[in-house]
Amino acid sequence: TATAAPVESPEQAAAIAHRGASAYAPENTLEAVRLGVEMRADLVEIDVQQTADEKLVVVHDTTLGRTTDVEQKFPERAPWRVSDFTLEEIRTLDAGSWKDPSYAGATVPTLDEVLDVLEPTDAGLLLEAKSPSLYPGIAERIADELSSRPRWVRPDPSARNLVVQSFDWEFIRHFDGLLPQVQVGVLGAPSTDQLAEVARYSDQVNPHHSEATPEYVAAVHEHGMRINPYTVNDRERMRALLGNGVDGIISDRPDVLREEIRAA
Ligand code: G3P
Ligand code: CA
Repeated sequence: TATAAPVESPEQAAAIAHRGASAYAPENTLEAVRLGVEMRADLVEIDVQQTADEKLVVVHDTTLGRTTDVEQKFPERAPWRVSDFTLEEIRTLDAGSWKDPSYAGATVPTLDEVLDVLEPTDAGLLLEAKSPSLYPGIAERIADELSSRPRWVRPDPSARNLVVQSFDWEFIRHFDGLLPQVQVGVLGAPSTDQLAEVARYSDQVNPHHSEATPEYVAAVHEHGMRINPYTVNDRERMRALLGNGVDGIISDRPDVLREEIRAA
């Protein structure tokens, strides 16, 4: 835990590129991460899971069918769980063609590769641990990976610009114990009665945008946490949320979001 105060005005809100700039490039690929950086996202959000040989890979679903050509390449291996494939096998997959033929050849990246892309830039990282209960040891593996790279464990939180989040709040509590200098967030919307307990370990509450009413935003702030709702692609909704006092917005269209934040 390393508490960050709420932003003071809407133009300070963070533009967060959801799965990279995923409206335009295939989600959770290096192409989408790079485009998010180019579009001046403050942070790039990615989903991290674990292969059969315990490597950290960046992919949203717990199965590979929707975003790769795994069904063609490994027809016998249904339901194509991430946890049933080695990194070497996953590296043979095309993770770009489903989005657009011009992205043929994009791969499922490792966490390592995403960190390599982000490290020399000003953009930060919002790392979601996706379904961590499926992957024993993943908290320690993510913590080790981040700790081995100086940028992500610097003492100054704004220089580090890293948040680890999950829908699995127990995972977040555990991760906070492993790397207390790194900010963490719970995904979802704890009830106002639960906020005090969540604030014992979490720096952020990142709910579906429908939960981010002015009252709920104020309640999260009263407990000393930030709030970054997901996933907002509509300009009017962005404006409304900025008016409600959110600290950031997670969007597939970081270019549009950047414009709305600038105009706020
Ligand atoms: O960052 C929040 C958002 O990514 C959570 O939902 O399903 O897109 O991972 P999902
Ligand atoms: Ca996510």
